[in-house]
Amino acid sequence: MDRLVIQGGTPLKGEVRISGAKNSVLPIMAASLLAETPLVIDNVPHLKDVTLFIELLAQMGAAITFRSDMSIEIDTSVLQHCVAPYQLVSKMRASILVLGPLLARFGHAKVALPGGCAIGSRPVDIHVDGLKAMGADIQIEDGYIYASAPNGLVGTTICMRFPSVTATENLILAATLAKGKTRIIGGAKEPEIMDLLQCCETMGAKVSYNTLGDITIEGAKSLSGGLYRVVPDRIETGTYLVAATMTGGHIKLTDTKPGLLETVIVGLRQAGAVIETTDSTIELSVNPEKRLLPVDICTGPYPGFPTDMQAQFMAMNCVANGDSVIKETIFENRFMHVDELRRMGANIKVQGNIAIVSGGSLKGAPVRATDLRASASLVLAGLVAQGTTIIHEIFHIDRGYECLEEKLATLGAHIRRLAETAGVEDYVKST
Ligand code: UD1
Repeated sequence: MDRLVIQGGTPLKGEVRISGAKNSVLPIMAASLLAETPLVIDNVPHLKDVTLFIELLAQMGAAITFRSDMSIEIDTSVLQHCVAPYQLVSKMRASILVLGPLLARFGHAKVALPGGCAIGSRPVDIHVDGLKAMGADIQIEDGYIYASAPNGLVGTTICMRFPSVTATENLILAATLAKGKTRIIGGAKEPEIMDLLQCCETMGAKVSYNTLGDITIEGAKSLSGGLYRVVPDRIETGTYLVAATMTGGHIKLTDTKPGLLETVIVGLRQAGAVIETTDSTIELSVNPEKRLLPVDICTGPYPGFPTDMQAQFMAMNCVANGDSVIKETIFENRFMHVDELRRMGANIKVQGNIAIVSGGSLKGAPVRATDLRASASLVLAGLVAQGTTIIHEIFHIDRGYECLEEKLATLGAHIRRLAETAGVEDYVKST
């Protein structure tokens, strides 16, 4: 398995383009299952999760055409199976997003249960309860969700017990073809939800929403495709901003949307970064002579601090001047990176869902990527650590960061992907 080898200590400088958002493109690809005519999606990032989703749609019979570098056309006018098999769902939990649209358009679906993962047990009860409220018959047997609604789904009012992101998306997708009006009360408000709603509008759905997470959808008889451009990735944006902050760098990010990550920008300013924004760019600089200040964070549903940026802020706090408190409220087991950061010399104590970080310095070490965002935190730690960091099991990174090492190398980082058989010593000597 490939490894990433990083020689720390170089301040990042330069300009990088931000890719389309992973968490937007997946539900939007699922939306293609609703349309009678092809949906063209633009600003699609090259990610392992996107490839897996394409595989999932293709094995159902969808026709997929790569139109240009960042644009794909999905035609689901003829579909052979409404099945998401275990071998794909087990690789990517977001496969559950096909459940709502398949049920709404074809009246039946069979989707493998996603099961647990490194960051917690992650049940799907909110998805299932919402679809049942819309009249679906759902049985769970042999590790599969068997859903049917032969006479179609019926719009209703659904009160969500927690604003789950993918459950809200599944219910939105289902509601667009249900009979009558669906109200989702207390749904998720993440920017990726707004992106999906706008895509559904482009496809002909009648939707309205407010800032409380209440979403109303008037079901249509049929939807068409169209052209939709995916929003920039706020988590990729935040990750590069933390990288530049930790290394005392000066970077400019383009094709991004600063308004989507206000809590992250506030936290980085608190750490000592100077940040200037326009509608589509962010420029960040840090005085390399000054130690960073520690930043306390508590993750929460949007517009709260994103759980997907928690690990990166923890890495940053490891090199800050003082103690910080990090509270994780979304996932039950999202501190897998702590043990790996400790291998690099980090001083972190964990009590339940709270981590107390005492800032100091980091030293390169061999570490293991455990999940997507944990991997990002190890890359960030490696960029600032003294010496060489070798990150194993980096397939997690390819799930969510487009061309990570190429983009970081453009900014001056000494980072390289090495095949399992390649010698680390030769690379280190050559840098
Ligand atoms: C999405 C994002 C992920 C992000 C997360 C939280 C995608 C593809 N992934 O994941 O990057 O970290 O939102 O912002 O968009 N829960 C239940 N029952 C359910 C569903 C969820 O109890 O039916 C719980 C989960 O176990 C978790 C919490 O709700 O503790 C939040 O999960 P959720 O918002 O559903 O995350 P995802 O949609 O899986």
